[in-house]
Amino acid sequence: PAYSRILGSGSYLPERRVSNADLAAQLAADGVETSDAWIQERTGIQARYFAAPNQCSSDLALPAAQAALQAAGVEAADIDLIVVATTTPDMTFPSTAALLQAKLGVHGCAAFDVQAVCSGFLYALSVADAMIRAGNARKALVIGAEVFSRLLDFKDRTTCVLFGDGAGAVVLGASEEPGILATALHADGRQAGVLCVPQGEYVHMDGQAVFKLAVGALEKAAHEVLEKAGRTADSIDWLIPHQANLRIMKGTAKKLGLPEERMVVTVHEHGNTSAASVPLALDAAVREGRVQRGQTLMLEGVGGGFTWGAALVVY
Ligand code: ACO
Repeated sequence: PAYSRILGSGSYLPERRVSNADLAAQLAADGVETSDAWIQERTGIQARYFAAPNQCSSDLALPAAQAALQAAGVEAADIDLIVVATTTPDMTFPSTAALLQAKLGVHGCAAFDVQAVCSGFLYALSVADAMIRAGNARKALVIGAEVFSRLLDFKDRTTCVLFGDGAGAVVLGASEEPGILATALHADGRQAGVLCVPQGEYVHMDGQAVFKLAVGALEKAAHEVLEKAGRTADSIDWLIPHQANLRIMKGTAKKLGLPEERMVVTVHEHGNTSAASVPLALDAAVREGRVQRGQTLMLEGVGGGFTWGAALVVY
Protein backbone atom coordinates (compact mmCIF):
# COMPACT_ATOMS: atom_id res chain seq x y z
CA PRO A 1 0.00 0.00 0.00
CA ALA A 2 1.08 3.56 -0.69
CA TYR A 3 -0.11 4.87 2.67
CA SER A 4 -1.50 4.16 6.08
CA ARG A 5 -4.49 6.25 7.05
CA ILE A 6 -6.26 7.09 10.32
CA LEU A 7 -9.59 5.23 10.11
CA GLY A 8 -10.87 6.34 13.53
CA SER A 9 -9.84 7.65 16.93
CA GLY A 10 -10.88 7.25 20.55
CA SER A 11 -9.81 8.39 23.97
CA TYR A 12 -10.42 7.87 27.65
CA LEU A 13 -9.86 9.91 30.79
CA PRO A 14 -10.16 8.44 34.28
CA GLU A 15 -13.10 9.61 36.39
CA ARG A 16 -11.26 11.68 38.95
CA ARG A 17 -10.86 15.27 37.72
CA VAL A 18 -8.52 17.34 39.86
CA SER A 19 -8.62 21.10 39.35
CA ASN A 20 -5.64 23.27 40.24
CA ALA A 21 -7.52 24.39 43.35
CA ASP A 22 -8.18 20.75 44.35
CA LEU A 23 -4.51 19.91 43.84
CA ALA A 24 -3.33 23.00 45.73
CA ALA A 25 -5.54 22.01 48.67
CA GLN A 26 -4.22 18.44 48.59
CA LEU A 27 -0.59 19.63 48.50
CA ALA A 28 -1.18 22.22 51.24
CA ALA A 29 -2.15 19.39 53.57
CA ASP A 30 1.47 18.17 53.16
CA GLY A 31 2.93 21.65 53.57
CA VAL A 32 3.58 22.12 49.83
CA GLU A 33 2.55 25.52 48.55
CA THR A 34 1.16 26.20 45.07
CA SER A 35 -1.76 28.03 43.52
CA ASP A 36 -4.17 27.96 40.62
CA ALA A 37 -2.76 31.31 39.47
CA TRP A 38 0.87 30.07 39.39
CA ILE A 39 -0.01 26.87 37.53
CA GLN A 40 -2.21 28.61 34.96
CA GLU A 41 0.20 31.43 34.31
CA ARG A 42 3.28 29.22 33.83
CA THR A 43 1.66 26.27 32.05
CA GLY A 44 -1.92 26.97 30.94
CA ILE A 45 -3.07 23.94 32.93
CA GLN A 46 -6.38 24.24 34.82
CA ALA A 47 -7.10 20.60 35.62
CA ARG A 48 -5.93 17.05 35.08
CA TYR A 49 -7.36 13.55 35.62
CA PHE A 50 -5.84 10.96 37.92
CA ALA A 51 -6.43 7.22 37.60
CA ALA A 52 -7.79 5.22 40.52
CA PRO A 53 -5.15 3.22 42.44
CA ASN A 54 -6.26 -0.04 40.79
CA GLN A 55 -6.23 1.38 37.24
CA CYS A 56 -3.23 0.59 35.04
CA SER A 57 -2.28 1.92 31.61
CA SER A 58 -4.00 -1.02 29.88
CA ASP A 59 -7.22 -0.19 31.75
CA LEU A 60 -7.17 3.32 30.32
CA ALA A 61 -6.05 2.04 26.90
CA LEU A 62 -8.96 -0.43 26.63
CA PRO A 63 -11.89 2.05 26.40
CA ALA A 64 -9.78 4.37 24.20
CA ALA A 65 -9.05 1.45 21.84
CA GLN A 66 -12.68 0.34 21.82
CA ALA A 67 -13.85 3.86 20.96
CA ALA A 68 -11.29 4.06 18.13
CA LEU A 69 -12.39 0.68 16.75
CA GLN A 70 -16.00 1.78 16.84
CA ALA A 71 -15.22 5.10 15.12
CA ALA A 72 -13.26 3.21 12.45
CA GLY A 73 -15.94 0.55 12.00
CA VAL A 74 -13.29 -2.13 12.59
CA GLU A 75 -13.62 -5.27 14.76
CA ALA A 76 -10.87 -6.05 17.27
CA ALA A 77 -10.45 -9.40 15.49
CA ASP A 78 -9.45 -7.56 12.29
CA ILE A 79 -6.53 -5.79 13.98
CA ASP A 80 -3.19 -7.39 13.07
CA LEU A 81 -0.86 -5.06 15.00
CA ILE A 82 -1.09 -3.36 18.41
CA VAL A 83 1.51 -0.76 19.37
CA VAL A 84 1.22 0.90 22.76
CA ALA A 85 3.31 3.94 23.65
CA THR A 86 3.69 4.17 27.40
CA THR A 87 6.15 5.26 30.05
CA THR A 88 4.08 3.61 32.75
CA PRO A 89 3.57 -0.01 31.65
CA ASP A 90 1.36 -2.24 33.81
CA MET A 91 4.28 -4.62 34.32
CA THR A 92 7.98 -4.79 33.43
CA PHE A 93 6.79 -7.57 31.14
CA PRO A 94 4.69 -8.66 29.35
CA SER A 95 4.11 -5.51 27.35
CA THR A 96 1.05 -3.36 27.96
CA ALA A 97 0.15 -4.08 24.32
CA ALA A 98 -0.01 -7.83 25.01
CA LEU A 99 -2.13 -7.25 28.13
CA LEU A 100 -4.40 -4.93 26.17
CA GLN A 101 -4.75 -7.50 23.39
CA ALA A 102 -6.13 -9.99 25.93
CA LYS A 103 -8.48 -7.37 27.35
CA LEU A 104 -9.77 -6.74 23.82
CA GLY A 105 -10.61 -10.46 23.67
CA VAL A 106 -8.33 -11.25 20.74
CA HIS A 107 -5.05 -13.11 20.28
CA GLY A 108 -2.43 -13.89 17.69
CA CYS A 109 -1.65 -10.47 16.25
CA ALA A 110 1.68 -8.73 16.89
CA ALA A 111 1.66 -6.57 20.03
CA PHE A 112 4.46 -4.55 21.58
CA ASP A 113 5.21 -1.34 23.45
CA VAL A 114 7.38 1.58 22.46
CA GLN A 115 8.96 3.87 25.02
CA ALA A 116 9.79 7.43 24.05
CA VAL A 117 8.00 9.22 26.90
CA CYS A 118 6.10 12.26 25.63
CA SER A 119 7.15 11.53 22.01
CA GLY A 120 5.89 7.96 22.39
CA PHE A 121 2.77 8.33 20.28
CA LEU A 122 4.75 9.82 17.39
CA TYR A 123 7.21 6.92 17.62
CA ALA A 124 4.38 4.35 17.75
CA LEU A 125 2.54 5.96 14.83
CA SER A 126 5.69 6.07 12.74
CA VAL A 127 6.52 2.40 13.42
CA ALA A 128 2.97 1.25 12.64
CA ASP A 129 2.90 3.38 9.47
CA ALA A 130 6.17 1.82 8.30
CA MET A 131 4.92 -1.72 9.04
CA ILE A 132 1.70 -1.10 7.12
CA ARG A 133 3.45 0.41 4.12
CA ALA A 134 5.92 -2.52 4.11
CA GLY A 135 2.98 -4.93 3.94
CA ASN A 136 3.58 -6.40 7.41
CA ALA A 137 0.23 -5.27 8.81
CA ARG A 138 -3.04 -4.00 7.36
CA LYS A 139 -4.91 -2.65 10.36
CA ALA A 140 -3.11 -1.39 13.43
CA LEU A 141 -4.20 -0.06 16.79
CA VAL A 142 -1.81 2.69 17.88
CA ILE A 143 -2.26 3.87 21.43
CA GLY A 144 -0.73 6.26 23.91
CA ALA A 145 -1.66 5.37 27.50
CA GLU A 146 -0.23 6.68 30.74
CA VAL A 147 -0.79 6.63 34.48
CA PHE A 148 1.90 9.27 34.80
CA SER A 149 0.66 10.23 38.27
CA ARG A 150 2.48 7.09 39.53
CA LEU A 151 5.79 8.79 38.68
CA LEU A 152 5.05 12.02 40.54
CA ASP A 153 6.50 13.15 43.83
CA PHE A 154 3.65 15.16 45.36
CA LYS A 155 6.19 16.88 47.58
CA ASP A 156 7.87 18.41 44.49
CA ARG A 157 5.67 21.27 43.33
CA THR A 158 7.88 21.99 40.33
CA THR A 159 6.77 18.76 38.63
CA CYS A 160 3.64 17.31 40.27
CA VAL A 161 1.36 20.11 39.04
CA LEU A 162 2.21 19.45 35.38
CA PHE A 163 1.03 15.91 34.62
CA GLY A 164 -2.13 13.83 34.31
CA ASP A 165 -3.37 10.36 33.29
CA GLY A 166 -5.28 9.23 30.20
CA ALA A 167 -5.23 7.32 26.94
CA GLY A 168 -5.79 8.03 23.25
CA ALA A 169 -5.94 5.63 20.32
CA VAL A 170 -6.17 5.53 16.55
CA VAL A 171 -6.86 2.71 14.12
CA LEU A 172 -4.49 2.89 11.15
CA GLY A 173 -5.39 1.08 7.95
CA ALA A 174 -3.57 0.34 4.69
CA SER A 175 -4.74 2.75 2.00
CA GLU A 176 -4.01 3.88 -1.54
CA GLU A 177 -5.28 7.34 -0.58
CA PRO A 178 -3.21 9.65 1.65
CA GLY A 179 -2.71 9.15 4.63
CA ILE A 180 0.31 9.75 6.71
CA LEU A 181 2.44 11.79 4.33
CA ALA A 182 5.71 11.88 6.27
CA THR A 183 7.16 11.24 9.71
CA ALA A 184 10.40 12.20 11.44
CA LEU A 185 11.82 10.82 14.69
CA HIS A 186 14.84 11.97 16.67
CA ALA A 187 16.61 11.44 19.96
CA ASP A 188 19.58 12.95 21.78
CA GLY A 189 20.60 10.73 24.66
CA ARG A 190 23.16 13.28 25.81
CA GLN A 191 20.20 15.19 27.28
CA ALA A 192 18.88 12.26 29.35
CA GLY A 193 19.41 14.17 32.58
CA VAL A 194 17.08 17.09 31.84
CA LEU A 195 13.99 14.93 32.23
CA CYS A 196 14.19 11.45 33.72
CA VAL A 197 12.93 8.98 36.30
CA PRO A 198 15.91 7.06 37.70
CA GLN A 199 15.04 3.48 38.72
CA GLY A 200 12.78 3.52 41.76
CA GLU A 201 12.56 7.32 41.89
CA TYR A 202 10.18 10.04 40.76
CA VAL A 203 10.31 12.56 37.90
CA HIS A 204 13.39 14.78 37.79
CA MET A 205 13.15 17.77 35.47
CA ASP A 206 15.15 20.83 34.56
CA GLY A 207 12.12 22.81 33.40
CA GLN A 208 13.96 25.63 31.71
CA ALA A 209 16.30 23.30 29.82
CA VAL A 210 13.31 21.26 28.64
CA PHE A 211 11.56 24.42 27.52
CA LYS A 212 14.47 25.58 25.37
CA LEU A 213 15.16 22.16 23.84
CA ALA A 214 11.48 21.56 23.10
CA VAL A 215 10.71 24.67 21.07
CA GLY A 216 13.78 24.32 18.83
CA ALA A 217 13.38 20.57 18.32
CA LEU A 218 9.69 20.85 17.42
CA GLU A 219 10.32 23.57 14.87
CA LYS A 220 13.01 21.49 13.14
CA ALA A 221 10.93 18.30 13.10
CA ALA A 222 7.93 20.15 11.65
CA HIS A 223 10.01 21.61 8.82
CA GLU A 224 11.56 18.21 8.19
CA VAL A 225 8.21 16.48 7.60
CA LEU A 226 6.91 19.40 5.52
CA GLU A 227 9.99 19.14 3.32
CA LYS A 228 9.68 15.35 2.99
CA ALA A 229 6.05 15.76 1.94
CA GLY A 230 6.80 18.65 -0.42
CA ARG A 231 4.45 20.95 1.50
CA THR A 232 4.69 24.32 3.21
CA ALA A 233 3.44 25.34 6.64
CA ASP A 234 0.44 27.18 5.18
CA SER A 235 -0.99 23.80 4.09
CA ILE A 236 -1.43 22.82 7.77
CA ASP A 237 -5.07 22.99 8.85
CA TRP A 238 -4.42 21.89 12.44
CA LEU A 239 -1.31 21.79 14.57
CA ILE A 240 -1.72 19.07 17.20
CA PRO A 241 1.35 19.32 19.42
CA HIS A 242 2.24 17.38 22.54
CA GLN A 243 0.26 19.06 25.31
CA ALA A 244 2.95 19.81 27.90
CA ASN A 245 2.74 23.48 28.41
CA LEU A 246 0.77 26.20 26.64
CA ARG A 247 3.80 28.46 26.39
CA ILE A 248 5.85 25.80 24.54
CA MET A 249 2.88 25.13 22.26
CA LYS A 250 2.34 28.81 21.44
CA GLY A 251 6.06 29.20 20.78
CA THR A 252 5.92 26.32 18.29
CA ALA A 253 2.87 27.68 16.46
CA LYS A 254 4.54 31.06 16.18
CA LYS A 255 7.73 29.58 14.74
CA LEU A 256 5.64 27.83 12.07
CA GLY A 257 3.80 31.08 11.34
CA LEU A 258 0.47 29.48 12.27
CA PRO A 259 -2.28 31.43 14.02
CA GLU A 260 -3.11 30.05 17.46
CA GLU A 261 -6.67 29.30 16.31
CA ARG A 262 -5.23 26.49 14.14
CA MET A 263 -3.68 24.74 17.13
CA VAL A 264 -5.60 22.10 19.11
CA VAL A 265 -5.31 22.79 22.85
CA THR A 266 -6.38 20.34 25.53
CA VAL A 267 -3.56 20.90 28.04
CA HIS A 268 -5.79 23.22 30.08
CA GLU A 269 -8.16 20.31 30.79
CA HIS A 270 -5.81 17.28 30.65
CA GLY A 271 -2.44 18.50 31.91
CA ASN A 272 0.54 16.74 30.36
CA THR A 273 -0.47 13.11 29.75
CA SER A 274 2.87 12.20 28.14
CA ALA A 275 2.41 9.63 25.33
CA ALA A 276 -1.38 9.98 25.54
CA SER A 277 -1.52 13.71 24.92
CA VAL A 278 -1.43 13.83 21.11
CA PRO A 279 -4.09 11.15 20.48
CA LEU A 280 -6.24 12.60 23.29
CA ALA A 281 -6.06 16.02 21.64
CA LEU A 282 -6.68 14.58 18.17
CA ASP A 283 -9.73 12.65 19.34
CA ALA A 284 -11.16 15.65 21.20
CA ALA A 285 -10.84 17.80 18.07
CA VAL A 286 -12.38 15.09 15.85
CA ARG A 287 -15.33 14.59 18.19
CA GLU A 288 -15.91 18.35 18.42
CA GLY A 289 -16.10 18.42 14.61
CA ARG A 290 -13.08 20.69 14.29
CA VAL A 291 -10.76 18.20 12.61
CA GLN A 292 -12.46 16.97 9.44
CA ARG A 293 -11.72 14.43 6.71
CA GLY A 294 -9.32 15.70 4.07
CA GLN A 295 -7.66 18.23 6.37
CA THR A 296 -3.91 18.28 6.92
CA LEU A 297 -2.65 17.76 10.46
CA MET A 298 0.79 18.36 11.92
CA LEU A 299 1.29 16.07 14.94
CA GLU A 300 4.30 16.75 17.15
CA GLY A 301 5.84 15.12 20.17
CA VAL A 302 8.74 15.98 22.45
CA GLY A 303 9.93 14.62 25.76
CA GLY A 304 12.41 12.68 27.83
CA GLY A 305 15.31 11.05 26.07
CA PHE A 306 15.55 13.70 24.84
CA THR A 307 13.19 12.57 22.06
CA TRP A 308 11.12 14.41 19.50
CA GLY A 309 9.21 13.78 16.32
CA ALA A 310 6.51 14.94 13.94
CA ALA A 311 4.03 13.50 11.47
CA LEU A 312 2.24 15.23 8.63
CA VAL A 313 -1.11 13.53 8.11
CA VAL A 314 -4.08 13.92 5.80
CA TYR A 315 -6.96 12.99 8.08
N1 ACO B 1 3.68 26.56 42.50
C1 ACO B 1 4.18 27.72 42.98
N2 ACO B 1 5.45 28.07 42.80
C2 ACO B 1 6.26 27.25 42.11
C3 ACO B 1 5.79 26.02 41.60
C4 ACO B 1 4.44 25.69 41.83
N3 ACO B 1 3.89 24.55 41.36
N4 ACO B 1 6.80 25.42 40.97
C5 ACO B 1 7.87 26.21 41.07
N5 ACO B 1 7.54 27.32 41.77
C6 ACO B 1 8.41 28.44 42.09
C7 ACO B 1 9.87 28.08 42.13
O1 ACO B 1 10.21 27.53 43.38
C8 ACO B 1 10.53 29.41 41.89
O2 ACO B 1 10.52 30.13 43.09
P1 ACO B 1 11.77 31.10 43.46
O3 ACO B 1 11.81 32.12 42.35
O4 ACO B 1 11.36 31.64 44.78
O5 ACO B 1 12.96 30.20 43.46
C9 ACO B 1 9.57 30.11 40.94
O6 ACO B 1 8.30 29.42 41.06
C10 ACO B 1 10.01 30.07 39.50
O7 ACO B 1 10.46 28.74 39.18
P2 ACO B 1 11.05 28.38 37.78
O8 ACO B 1 11.41 26.94 37.75
O9 ACO B 1 12.05 29.40 37.37
O10 ACO B 1 9.74 28.62 36.91
P3 ACO B 1 9.60 28.68 35.35
O11 ACO B 1 9.09 29.99 34.94
O12 ACO B 1 10.78 28.13 34.65
O13 ACO B 1 8.40 27.68 35.13
C11 ACO B 1 8.03 25.46 34.32
C12 ACO B 1 8.57 26.31 35.45
C13 ACO B 1 6.54 25.69 34.19
C14 ACO B 1 8.27 24.00 34.63
C15 ACO B 1 8.78 25.89 33.04
O14 ACO B 1 10.15 25.82 33.20
C16 ACO B 1 8.38 25.08 31.87
O15 ACO B 1 7.31 25.24 31.35
N6 ACO B 1 9.28 24.19 31.42
C17 ACO B 1 8.94 23.26 30.40
C18 ACO B 1 8.90 21.98 31.05
C19 ACO B 1 7.69 21.19 30.73
O16 ACO B 1 6.73 21.61 30.12
N7 ACO B 1 7.77 19.97 31.15
C20 ACO B 1 6.71 19.09 30.97
C21 ACO B 1 7.28 17.76 30.82
S1 ACO B 1 8.37 17.75 29.53
C22 ACO B 1 7.57 17.38 28.18
O17 ACO B 1 6.49 16.87 28.21
C23 ACO B 1 8.27 17.79 26.97
